[in-house]
Amino acid sequence: MKDPITTMKIFLDTADTDLIKEGFATGLIDGITTNPSLIMKSGRDPEEVYQELIDLGIPDISMEVVGTGEEMVAEGRRLAKKFGKEQTTIKVPCTRGGLAACRVLAKELIKVNVTLIFSPSQAILAAKAGARYVSPFVGRVDDNSFGGLCLVKDIANVFEKQFCRSTEILAASIRGVRQVSTAFSYGAHICTIPPNIFDGMYKHVLTDAGLDQFDADWKKVQKTVTSSLDV
Ligand code: E4P
Repeated sequence: MKDPITTMKIFLDTADTDLIKEGFATGLIDGITTNPSLIMKSGRDPEEVYQELIDLGIPDISMEVVGTGEEMVAEGRRLAKKFGKEQTTIKVPCTRGGLAACRVLAKELIKVNVTLIFSPSQAILAAKAGARYVSPFVGRVDDNSFGGLCLVKDIANVFEKQFCRSTEILAASIRGVRQVSTAFSYGAHICTIPPNIFDGMYKHVLTDAGLDQFDADWKKVQKTVTSSLDV
């Protein structure tokens, strides 16, 4: 049977490979995003982390590059060659240099995630530069008293009206479970979320309470069945 098309893709936003292993084992994780701050937090050599993720079979890994446009191109090419174009996505900032690098890398069929997106106009330029993903930073927009999720909606509206099908909206900087469903309903194709938010997506206080009740009743049923067999 053909694999069904994956929609509502979920990426984990972390460089902690223990947490990634746990999350990926659920079969519900479609990729990983890292950034220099997350790599720093892991305390590890970035390429050691990437290699571990490649070996785990993570389908899509965002690896951020820095420097001038030329430096980002060179680093992007090197990483794509080392880790393979299939699983590697090169993450560049939405700057003049980053967009130029995106253009070059995209032409070489290297996937690019244009990050640090804070306006629809940045997303438009990234899409024109051939980005595979644009990453609007929901939480950081909220931190600055604007609507982060509205940014996702605005970008999705433009992309839909302009039939832009080659660039996916990857909602990033997500701070809560509810933002995930809203981002998807506003048109995000992917949400990248910290592992604790992923766990929060399946946990619900009413699920726990309902389960306690069912467990207790099931035990009573077992007792009744056992005692009727004894008769
Ligand atoms: C992911 O691509 C981003 O780097 C990340 O989501 C940023 O999140 P933060 O704003 O919580 O640091």
